[in-house]
Amino acid sequence: MKVVESVSAMKALARGWRRDGKRIGLVPTMGYLHEGHLSLVRESKRRTDVTVVSIFVNPTQFGPNEDFKKYPRDLAKDIVYLETGGVDCLFHPVAAEVYPLDYRTFVEVQGLQDKLCGRSRPGHFRGVATVVLKLFEIVRPDLAFFGAKDAQQVLIIRRVAADLDLDLEVVTCPTVREPDGLALSSRNAYLGPAERKAALALSMSLRWAERAVAAGERDTARLVAGIRSVLEAEPMARVDYVEAVDPETLEPVGEVRGEVLVALAVFIGPTRLIDNVRLRA
Ligand code: PAJ
Repeated sequence: MKVVESVSAMKALARGWRRDGKRIGLVPTMGYLHEGHLSLVRESKRRTDVTVVSIFVNPTQFGPNEDFKKYPRDLAKDIVYLETGGVDCLFHPVAAEVYPLDYRTFVEVQGLQDKLCGRSRPGHFRGVATVVLKLFEIVRPDLAFFGAKDAQQVLIIRRVAADLDLDLEVVTCPTVREPDGLALSSRNAYLGPAERKAALALSMSLRWAERAVAAGERDTARLVAGIRSVLEAEPMARVDYVEAVDPETLEPVGEVRGEVLVALAVFIGPTRLIDNVRLRA
């Protein structure tokens, strides 16, 4: 596996692949890799000729009181993981090159960036959209792979790609879960044993909603209230939000008709976790 740190070297490498007629897949990550990330790698390897994984803990998507400094990092372990996964190239740029001191340009996706997670994390999606567009421009992938676990993120990236006429396909891969249902996340590393148990409330509450819809429930206010009561039964959980929204506009919907995205964010102790499910009548 090639490990590339500079932007110019990454551009040159990708240019060579394009010249050889190779289809390029990009999997953007912030590292501390797990099976969720690896599922994106496998899909990229299945659908492209060369797979680039980027690892960059992007400072612009963290709020001032968030966990940028303590975000888990283990590059040596990640490299072993990526080599085993058959990745062709790791792009691991340094922050000073991605955001030089005179950096001024940001991407905003109006109307989508301020909803759900954007409400509790102002500026988060501006940082995400900006860094992902930069990665797209550096690597110029044919396909880029994202996880459904971050539903709002992938919707926003899709919007950027469509609005700015990017010549690439955004692929959404299903959420990978632990056997007990907890969605894999690098932030799960923050959880102590009691918190790890408490974190199960997220996926349990969504499973409850799926069963309720299967049993005929269509009223999203009752679904959201039911989800909240599953979450609130867990003493270590503090709900940030639970919402039932249109999966394209993220506007609240009152009734399960067609597809509805139920998304939630919950603090387990100091750790903020997210999960979501798509419900259809
Ligand atoms: P990160 O949290 O490292 O996630 C990288 C990619 O892995 C994202 O597309 C995310 O949705 C996907 N992913 C994470 N957990 C997953 C799971 N359990 N199942 C399936 N896919 C999963 O998301 C980011 O990094 C950053 O915001 C980034 C897009 C890299 C921009 O900085």
